[in-house]
Amino acid sequence: MPPEKVHLTEEKATLLATLHGRALDARSPQPILGDELASEVIDRIDHDFAKTGMNAGTGRAVALRARFIDTWAAEYLTEHPQATVLHLGCGLDTRYHRMAPPPTVRWYDVDYPDVIDLRGRLFPARTGYTTIGSSVTDLAWLEQVPRDTDVLVVAEGLLYYLDPMRGAALLRAIVDRFAGGRLVFDALSTRGVRLQWRNKPVQKAGATMQWGIDGPDDLLVIHPRLRCVSTLSAFDMEGFDRLTAQHRVAAVIARLIPAMKRTAVFYLLEF
Ligand SMILES: C[S@@+](CC[C@H](N)C(=O)[O-])C[C@H]1O[C@@H](n2cnc3c(N)ncnc32)[C@H](O)[C@@H]1O
Repeated sequence: MPPEKVHLTEEKATLLATLHGRALDARSPQPILGDELASEVIDRIDHDFAKTGMNAGTGRAVALRARFIDTWAAEYLTEHPQATVLHLGCGLDTRYHRMAPPPTVRWYDVDYPDVIDLRGRLFPARTGYTTIGSSVTDLAWLEQVPRDTDVLVVAEGLLYYLDPMRGAALLRAIVDRFAGGRLVFDALSTRGVRLQWRNKPVQKAGATMQWGIDGPDDLLVIHPRLRCVSTLSAFDMEGFDRLTAQHRVAAVIARLIPAMKRTAVFYLLEF
């Protein structure tokens, strides 16, 4: 098959950076995530990945973040093997393949139509696995998802790209639609969003971050049924010691400066 040409810009182009990061990790001597499929897929895309701004060190950080989110997501699926998964802003992530959910799980990968078209050309179709091509904030897409099970919402590297009002409306619509569920995602604080000029892959993609979340209260006001189960600063992720010296120094400093520690946080919400 000829390699796939890609013409992605702005926030869509950031998926090439995260995919590249996971592929670099898979090709490293001691991978953190070991996403072999990411490494295979990248060879089928006609793109100069050196231009994503990702390197071996930041690739490991991306792999660690993905591994962490996989762990929180897997805990829910172990307890709820009949759940519906909404994997929002999936990009070209291989989370479905990594997690290999039981056949009782209904899994939806959601991203913009051109991203979903590209996914369709790169990944084989599977039973129990559906893709939806839509902006996540154009809420009509939710009508395609049956509401008869609990839901696991996973969003990695997505929320900060959404307009805050539209992002809140998305979370509200999901909570209104399902009887119960869990939401697992990473977020940046308003300070983190302000510092986006320091994020090389974001700058290279020409993407703009918009939504800063400064703690659970910013999320709990979105819907009275939402409660916060857990939060974790990215600087406290298990495995941080396997990142570069630069990352490790940043973690030491962040642990001393609360505002810095709060710039990048994982949230686990339930309703
Ligand atoms: C940093 S990438 C992360 C992709 C994937 N989650 C990963 O970790 O590799 C951000 C993703 O969010 C998607 N995205 C951003 N805004 C979106 C929106 N309004 N609707 C759907 N997808 C969106 C982009 O297309 C892109 O795939």
